[in-house]
Amino acid sequence: MDPEIKKQVLRKLTYGLYILTAAHEDDLAGGTVNWLSQASFSPPLVMVGVKADSHVHQIIERSGAFAVNILAADQKEVAAAFFRPSEVKDGRLNGYAFEVGAETGAPLLVDLPAWFEARVTDTIKRGDHTVFVAEVVNAGLRNAEARPLVMWDTGWFYGG
Ligand SMILES: Cc1cc2nc3c(=O)[nH]c(=O)nc-3n(C[C@H](O)[C@H](O)[C@H](O)COP(=O)(O)O)c2cc1C
Repeated sequence: MDPEIKKQVLRKLTYGLYILTAAHEDDLAGGTVNWLSQASFSPPLVMVGVKADSHVHQIIERSGAFAVNILAADQKEVAAAFFRPSEVKDGRLNGYAFEVGAETGAPLLVDLPAWFEARVTDTIKRGDHTVFVAEVVNAGLRNAEARPLVMWDTGWFYGG
C-alpha cells in the first residue's frame, strides 16, 4: 500500500464535527471530535473514536458515559475552542455555558443546537484511539432549523 494514497483516500471520508463531553465527580472534559457515527437503530447505538491519551478518554473510562453536542454550521469557532485542553472557569467549559446532563452528568453546551447522552456498552482499545460503542439514553433539540457543521467545509482534516 502507498501510504500517501492511503492518507488521501481516508481523508475523503466525510464527517460532521461534535463536542464530546464527559464528567466524573468534579472532573469535566470536552473535546472536538469527528470520528463519530450512529451504529444501530435498535438499540440506538453510536460509536466514537477517542484519542487514548486525552482527558475526555480518561473521564469516559471512569464514568462509562458521555454526551455529544452537535455544532451548527456557523459554530466553527466553538469547535476550535475545544481543540485545547479543558478548562472550567466561572461555570463555563472552555468559555461556553453548559447544563448538567440528567442521565450522565456530562456537560450539555447550551449554545449548540442539539445534543444526546449515551452510556458506554463496549470499549475497543486498539491503536492510538479507543472506539467506544454507546447507547443513546437521552436527547435534546434546542434549534430544529440549524444546519450541522460539516468537516469538509472547515478545511480541517483529522484522519489519513
Ligand atoms: C479537526 C480535528 C478533529 C478531531 N477529531 C478527533 C476525534 O475524532 N477524536 C479524538 O479523540 N480527538 C479528535 N481531535 C483532537 C481533540 O479535539 C483534542 O485532542 C482534544 O480536544 C484535546 O483534549 P484533551 O485535553 O482531552 O487531550 C480532533 C482535533 C482536530 C483538530
